[in-house]
Amino acid sequence: MDAKRSIADKLLDWYDRHARTLPWRAPPGARADPYRVWLSEVMLQQTTVATVQPRFEAWVARWPDIASLAAADEAEVMAAWAGLGYYARARNLVRAAKVIAADHGGRLPETEAALRALPGLGDYTAAAVAAIAFGQRAVVIDANVERVVSRLFCAAGKPAVRAAAEQVTPDQRAGDLAQAMMDLGSTICSPRRPKCLLCPLADDCAAHRAGMEEAFPVKPAKKARPARFGTIFWLEREMGAADSANRRELLLVRRPSKGLLGGMRALPTGPWELSAPGLAEAPAPADWVMLNRAVSHGFTHFTLELALAVGRWDAHSTHAEGEWWPVDDLASAGLPTVFAKAAEAIGRTR
Ligand code: ADE
Ligand code: SF4
Repeated sequence: MDAKRSIADKLLDWYDRHARTLPWRAPPGARADPYRVWLSEVMLQQTTVATVQPRFEAWVARWPDIASLAAADEAEVMAAWAGLGYYARARNLVRAAKVIAADHGGRLPETEAALRALPGLGDYTAAAVAAIAFGQRAVVIDANVERVVSRLFCAAGKPAVRAAAEQVTPDQRAGDLAQAMMDLGSTICSPRRPKCLLCPLADDCAAHRAGMEEAFPVKPAKKARPARFGTIFWLEREMGAADSANRRELLLVRRPSKGLLGGMRALPTGPWELSAPGLAEAPAPADWVMLNRAVSHGFTHFTLELALAVGRWDAHSTHAEGEWWPVDDLASAGLPTVFAKAAEAIGRTR
């Protein structure tokens, strides 16, 4: 008999007994104030439940309904939002309140589609408000829901998780089901070491049966970073003082203050382009030789492949922009990793 009860039934039973009491919630099975549901969902998008609770209480004490928010002083609203994340969300709350007051008779519309048309209400918020405040059947997927659902069905990837969530969402009490998943995810089905022994869905959970709870949710594969290319120019001169060993010096430059490694001391490179630039951007004419080794370095948004060119500076023929640095003391120049790698590679070559 138990095996026949659906996941939704079991989870709603669990919610009826264990739902967290939160200031924006009605008791299980009852309808909450739509304004409070909407406000809480917007606040909770960037901030934890613990942080949001007192802020939520203060907010609704100051602006208890949509009409008061629509008439609110913008500066005061921004001040009340401080610490809750992007101010655009607060600005959109007021803009939407004005639209609701003007176009919807002061009441939030009830369908997902109509909610999504309001400023600042994306897919998630529209679904959450439709389900939780208005009892509509809508599929609500936040990070907790994603974790629970992906584990229940060993569902990998957002489309699979959405399809699975769609399948467990009941016609009645879709909002309670979503909040049950949120509560299960934050109290029992935690990212690490979920407490499956306490879970009402343990018998239904594919990840639990396979002993691979923590493999879900599956993180999307990292996108391959595009490559850029450049040339590092190693330009040396020799200060042949009679009384000392030859002092080799190397030309260093300051990178432009804007852009990657801005303002840092560096080896000269040309611009970092989409194809290999060769010797075109050399800092001075010299007997340049390209080495048959390169340096690669990963930045956040691309990998850089740098060819290495070595030259000897002829003081009589040219001026070179930069500072001359003793090769033996390169460690004290504070070069960024990518240039330290190049110095290493050249040191090994020569
Ligand atoms: N996180 C986002 N929405 C929530 C809700 N309605 N209850 C608990 N946690 C949430
Ligand atoms: Fe999460 Fe474990 Fe419950 Fe599966 S059995 S839903 S992994 S707590």
